[in-house]
Amino acid sequence: MVALTARSQSIRSSSHLTMQTVEIGAQTIAIRSLDWDRDRFDIEFGLRNGTTYNSFLIQAEKTALIDTTHGKFGQLYMDALTGLIDLSTLDYLIVSHTEPDHSGLVKEVLELAPQVTVVGAKIAIQFLENMVHRPFKSQIVKNGDRIDLGNGHELEFVSAPNLHWPDTIFTYDPKTQILFTCDVFGMHYCDDHTYDEEPALVEDDFKTYYDCLMGPNARSVLSALKRIEKLKIGTIATGHGPLLQNYIPDWISRYQNWSQEVAKTDNLVALFYAQDYGHSDQIARTIARGIARTEVAVELVDLNEVDPHEVRELVNQAKGLVIGMPAQSSNLAHAALSTILAAAHNKQTVGLFETGGGEDEPIFPLRNKFQEIGAIEAFQPILIKEAPNPAIEQACDEAGTHLGQWLTRDRNIKQIKSINNDLERALGRISSGLYTITAKKDDLINVTIASWVTQASLEPLGVAIAIAKDRAIESMLHVGDRFVLNVLEEGNYQKLMRHFLKRMPSGDDRFAGIKTYPATDGTPILADALAYMECEVSSRMECSDHWIVYSTVKTGRVAKPDALTAVLHRKVGNHY
Ligand SMILES: Cc1cc2nc3c(=O)[nH]c(=O)nc-3n(C[C@H](O)[C@H](O)[C@H](O)COP(=O)(O)O)c2cc1C
Repeated sequence: MVALTARSQSIRSSSHLTMQTVEIGAQTIAIRSLDWDRDRFDIEFGLRNGTTYNSFLIQAEKTALIDTTHGKFGQLYMDALTGLIDLSTLDYLIVSHTEPDHSGLVKEVLELAPQVTVVGAKIAIQFLENMVHRPFKSQIVKNGDRIDLGNGHELEFVSAPNLHWPDTIFTYDPKTQILFTCDVFGMHYCDDHTYDEEPALVEDDFKTYYDCLMGPNARSVLSALKRIEKLKIGTIATGHGPLLQNYIPDWISRYQNWSQEVAKTDNLVALFYAQDYGHSDQIARTIARGIARTEVAVELVDLNEVDPHEVRELVNQAKGLVIGMPAQSSNLAHAALSTILAAAHNKQTVGLFETGGGEDEPIFPLRNKFQEIGAIEAFQPILIKEAPNPAIEQACDEAGTHLGQWLTRDRNIKQIKSINNDLERALGRISSGLYTITAKKDDLINVTIASWVTQASLEPLGVAIAIAKDRAIESMLHVGDRFVLNVLEEGNYQKLMRHFLKRMPSGDDRFAGIKTYPATDGTPILADALAYMECEVSSRMECSDHWIVYSTVKTGRVAKPDALTAVLHRKVGNHY
């Protein structure tokens, strides 16, 4: 065993990946993989501060490694780990959940530690069997189960399903009072500090992380918080970002308050799906992300785990229902679907999807039943027969946004109607130009009409655009993304505006019949625009229901030097 002082040791690689090993408690070492430059996590996260993947080693009479790291750290991590322990003596590998950024090197560890017992929730072990393609010893743990490593390290497991993976478990070590939570309480934030010394630096990332990953499972968060209530926690050893030590009650109460807020909301979509079926999990999360953009709460529920009482309660509360139909349903899923149908009513908005199904498409009989009930269909049934690609993801994301927009339409109409107000009339006198924003990412293209656009800097030349949080294009306007700002022409914008404001089914070509030519990165430039600018997003500021997206202008051209910019004169300031 290598003795470490409380000071950390760092190993740096050439590609802005570094390792930090630091003692965080008796016989306990954090092995932190620092990914300084990572700028994106899944499609939803534009990262500002990189991220870390934290793994932990406890070396008592017996030894346990808690999680590994992202595969990109490969040899760097293995060198740090094998510098601390001879892997042929490792007793346990605890897998908090099987997401690849924490289990990316499980296979490599198993190769050097074939004797190790892998510990995890039942689904985690099943997932791993499919991932590593080699036999290994395993121990399935449930809530309250313990493993004694000796010297007082009697590890206790806490089941925390859905946070944010189905197989999540926490590990609590009473000797050091460290609770290992993996994703939960994590954040994408990378620096050399091991702990949360300055909460102001990280609280935004803590919130964003909660919103993206935990918010859709607010009820499950509350159940997990209840389970850890009785524990005396000195450190929360998270899987991403700094470990929490200095403000633990505050961090926990933030999770508590945000989750309670979501759980009691009256604008809720219950999204039922079978987590371990095909690509159901990925599709469910993508639709949930689209819904969340409209500030409607989403609760993801596994059809195979939920009890009928909870289903009834959720369906009674929810304004929208999304159901991911498993092609072959288990008895439990079948019972849950019957309970949903029995509790559903004609004021509800419904969306259905099916992944991996064959020709029988059980989604259609289900759709007929909802039609008989009189429920409103939010989007056409989504049938996914192949692995989701970016275009499928975009269609699912947009389907979720449409559902959310439908559920918030009353609120928005009310807002627009409340025009008898001097303030709103005064604000309406702010006039602006008319623009079309086109954006392209990988093979996905999106477009929106915008008027809240202004030049925002001289050196470098920069523009600011206010983009509503529930705009589908919003996910393509994160820091580092490029887009084209097309300036519309006075007297010649109506056709373009009508075209792009028309609601089209997700997946349709929004540029059909519109003349375009490609910008440097292939983004469509509208041939009928008066001028265009190619821009790159440098920063974003959250402003209530909009993001202000500040971007530098890289290049541009005026196509019609004598024409004027289309101007929008409004009467009231409570809509565009
Ligand atoms: C005249 C006009 C100006 C608009 N300006 C903006 C704007 O500045 N920012 C914005 O987010 N949406 C703006 N919108 C709304 C979007 O263009 C429109 O709702 C959108 O294209 C629909 O796409 P969605 O499916 O992404 O919601 C404007 C709409 C109109 C009619």
